[in-house]
Amino acid sequence: MSAEDTTAIKAISALRGLFPPAVAVAARSIALDADAPEAIRRRHRRSGRLCAADALAVLAISPTLREHPAPTWPSDAAGSISHCEDLACAVAAQASQVVALGVDIEAARPLIEGAELVCGDAELDHFDTLPPLPAGNWPLLTFSAKEAFYKCQYAVTGRLLDFRDFEIRFDIHAPATGRFTLRRTRPLPIPDHLDLDIEGRWAADRSHVYTAAWITRPAP
Ligand SMILES: CC(C)(COP(=O)(O)OP(=O)(O)OC[C@H]1O[C@@H](n2cnc3c(N)ncnc32)[C@H](O)[C@@H]1OP(=O)(O)O)[C@@H](O)C(=O)NCCC(=O)NCCS
Repeated sequence: MSAEDTTAIKAISALRGLFPPAVAVAARSIALDADAPEAIRRRHRRSGRLCAADALAVLAISPTLREHPAPTWPSDAAGSISHCEDLACAVAAQASQVVALGVDIEAARPLIEGAELVCGDAELDHFDTLPPLPAGNWPLLTFSAKEAFYKCQYAVTGRLLDFRDFEIRFDIHAPATGRFTLRRTRPLPIPDHLDLDIEGRWAADRSHVYTAAWITRPAP
């Protein structure tokens, strides 16, 4: 098995462990090479779209996605896409079961420069109480978790939010995996209970961090 296959299989397994069973997960590795930035961007976008089609195929939903700013999923599906330098992934679920999904993956490199744009002092104090991650650092995981949260909430509110609008708390359920919750730091033009409604999970290994956010539809 190639290193690329291993990366994608590891990602699928990590993401399956984060989302509820109703959520279909797909991932594809992306070859690292020296193409021009625009070609790389196109390849990443194509890989993300192929993952979305893979995830929708599991649900037997026709994979027609419209673009911009967020992809518009088929009316009977909820979904989310992410890509980082060597990996793309997508998640999808039946809209009858899930209101919104957010997924994010990042290559596990410590976020140092710019960490203050993502994390406040209370969050940095919280990280001091947590064990080290296999790779990367807690600010990187915070960046990823807030992106997953952002994508999930956007499907409901259509609102742009700032990283510092929320403070994160990580719980650790097993080595390098757990739950996260976000608490707003100021009044925001989104429903008050949204941060409570969204479930957040994270996992990390030596190569990537993976974050998941979703809102399930209450049983009728
Ligand atoms: C939209 C955003 C989250 C995407 O970040 P990114 O670094 O390109 O990350 P990813 O590769 O993980 O995700 C890109 C995919 O997200 C999806 N996406 C883009 N905008 C989106 C939105 N508003 N809502 C949901 N998904 C969105 C797209 O599928 C996109 O891939 P594509 O352009 O190839 O189709 C980021 O650019 C952004 O604008 N963030 C806003 C600030 C924020 O996250 N605040 C946190 C507040 S708590």
